[in-house]
Amino acid sequence: MPGLAARLREEILNSGPLLFQHFMAEALYNPDQGYYARPAGQVGRGGDFFTSVSVGPLFGRLLAAHISAWWQEAGSPVRWRIVEAGANDGSLALDILAALEASGAEYVVVEPLPLLAEALRQRSAGALRVVDSTTSLAEDPLPSFVLGNEVLDALPFHVIESDGELWHELGVEVSDGRFYWTDVGPAPADLVAKLPTRPVGYMTEVRDNIGSFLSAMATGMAGGRMLWLDYGFDREDYYHESRTTGTLRTFSRHRAAEDPLESPGEIDITAHVDFTALAEAAEAMGGTVIRDQRQGLFLTEIAKPWLLSLEGRTDVAKDLRAFQTLTHPGQLGAKFRVMEIGFDPP
Ligand SMILES: C[S@@+](CC[C@H](N)C(=O)[O-])C[C@H]1O[C@@H](n2cnc3c(N)ncnc32)[C@H](O)[C@@H]1O
Repeated sequence: MPGLAARLREEILNSGPLLFQHFMAEALYNPDQGYYARPAGQVGRGGDFFTSVSVGPLFGRLLAAHISAWWQEAGSPVRWRIVEAGANDGSLALDILAALEASGAEYVVVEPLPLLAEALRQRSAGALRVVDSTTSLAEDPLPSFVLGNEVLDALPFHVIESDGELWHELGVEVSDGRFYWTDVGPAPADLVAKLPTRPVGYMTEVRDNIGSFLSAMATGMAGGRMLWLDYGFDREDYYHESRTTGTLRTFSRHRAAEDPLESPGEIDITAHVDFTALAEAAEAMGGTVIRDQRQGLFLTEIAKPWLLSLEGRTDVAKDLRAFQTLTHPGQLGAKFRVMEIGFDPP
């Protein structure tokens, strides 16, 4: 089978420039050759980047306490569900499940990539229900806690550039076998309707798929919560005049770079999340933003019972180090933001 770069070159030569969003979707999620299609290996010390999950099981244990508190608040329903997107190798899911003990939760992982889904089934030996989409959950709606760590930043986005008046959409062209950026014309009006006018050459990103992603994740929810953890800004800050080259980054072997057209399928491609767009999408679905704060503060709040239980114990140095990594503003505490959305029962 030709490599992904060769297939993308062929597609461009046959049909003309590809929108960057399409190029990115192929580079990350082509089911055979996309960056995320291979089982595991991307996240963690030996991979390309760290996440809060790579810090260790404490993150999952703290989230489990938070989920459990919501479940009790909801009247401890006998049947309920946790639904995770972007579970990757399943570490967070298994950490949460182990900490929840006998709560009776069904833990569903939504994994559209077949090789990853199979690896998750094998690793979890039946403990996780792995589905390729949420469609099947609609047949049996349940109170649900839906979550995802660093998923929204991985949703394919459009790259746009200002000509001083209008936003233009950028696509990907090929010359001498190399990919390069090309202007494919004015961006669709609804894509850029909420963005400010910016000077010539200002380049940034915008997503039009947050709403559809949230609605898909809400399928099968008979009320409950959604919790999204990611890096991002309010819209005003995201499109601030000083941020002239946007937030697009690539990651390979723990090194950040900025050319997403290099080596499709071999590197991670990401951009910050517009949290204003996330809140708007949630509210348009009838959700209410009940929390929007830095990860450090969020975890410190939900860790109170755990922190109190540590008094007098001497065997917790490792957990305390992990807690500091997750919450310290100089480490992950200020890098990540947490938005929690409430949905009333029907
Ligand atoms: C940066 S990784 C984060 C992995 C893990 N949550 C962690 O924190 O270590 C992003 C993950 O989101 C997944 N993803 C992206 N879009 C998705 C979608 N629409 N549905 C489910 N998973 C998705 C990717 O396949 C990838 O595994």
